[in-house]
Amino acid sequence: MLFRKAKTILVLTASVLFLCGHPGLVSQSSALSFDKNREIALEITRLFRASRAVISKHQKMINNPDIGDKGLSPEKVIDEARANFKKAAGSEFRLEAGTTLKGLGQLAMLNAIREVMSNAQPLINERGRGFKGFLPAVFARLVADSYNRLMKGRAYIKLTAPRQYIRNRSNRPDKWEHNVIENQFRNADYKRDKPFVEEARHRGRSAFRLIIPEYYNKSCLPCHGEPRGERDITGGKKEGGKLGELGGAISFTIYK
Ligand code: HEC
Repeated sequence: MLFRKAKTILVLTASVLFLCGHPGLVSQSSALSFDKNREIALEITRLFRASRAVISKHQKMINNPDIGDKGLSPEKVIDEARANFKKAAGSEFRLEAGTTLKGLGQLAMLNAIREVMSNAQPLINERGRGFKGFLPAVFARLVADSYNRLMKGRAYIKLTAPRQYIRNRSNRPDKWEHNVIENQFRNADYKRDKPFVEEARHRGRSAFRLIIPEYYNKSCLPCHGEPRGERDITGGKKEGGKLGELGGAISFTIYK
C-alpha cells in the first residue's frame, strides 16, 4: 500500500518534470496534420470516457456505507479503464514511447486518473457514510482539471453540456462548444455519437478542436430527468431531461 503510494507520487513527479522540460513540444504540435490531431483527440477522450465508466460501474459500491476499503485503487481503475478502452477501440491501449504529443497526452491522462483516485481514497473508503458525492461527472471534472494542469498550454479537455443543463458553472460551454451543441448536435440530421472537428480558436489561440455528443440513458435520469426542479440524491435540481436526449459533450483542444 505504502509502496504503491510512493510509486504513484514518483510517477506523478517524474511526469511533471518531463512535461515541463520540453520547450520543443509546442512547435512540434503545430506541425501535426489535422488527421493526426484527430487521432490524438479520439485516443485521449476514449481513455477519459473509459475511466469514467469504471466509476459508473462501481457507483453502488462507492455509495455503500457498510464497506470500508473498496479496493478501488488508482491502478485498479486504470486496469479497468484499459479493458473498457479495448472494448471501445477494438484494440489494446498502447502508451506511445518518446515525447510525441500523443505519448505525453496519454501519460498525462493516466497520471490525472492516478492523482484523482489517489486523493479520493479517504473519501470513498469512509465507512458509515452512504452517498459521498463521488460521481462519474465529478471524477471527470477532477481528472480534466489535473490533465489540463499537466498538459498546460498544449492540450485541454473538458466535460460540458447544453447551456440550460449545466449544474457546475465551471463546466459551462464556451461560444464554440455552445454553437456546435445548438447548431450541429441538435440538428435532426446530425449523426448520433459523431464527433465534430474543426480548426477553431480556444482561449485566444488557434487550435484543433473536437467535441463528442453524449446522451442521457436510463441511469442518468434519477438525477437529470423529470420532474424538472425536483431535488435529486445529490441535493441538486433535476434538469427535466429525457431518455436519449443530448445531455452533455466532451470537448478536446490541441493548441497550434
Ligand atoms: C447521482 C446523480 C447523477 C447521476 C446518476 C448522473 N449525474 Fe450527471 N451530474 C450530477 C451532478 C451532481 C453533476 C455536477 C458535477 C460537478 O460538480 O461537476 C453532474 C454533471 C454532469 C455533466 C457536466 C455538466 C454539468 O452539468 O456541470 C454532464 C455532462 C452529466 N452530468 C451527464 C450525465 C450523464 C450523461 C449521466 C448518465 C450516464 C449522468 N450525468 C448521471 C449528477 C448525476
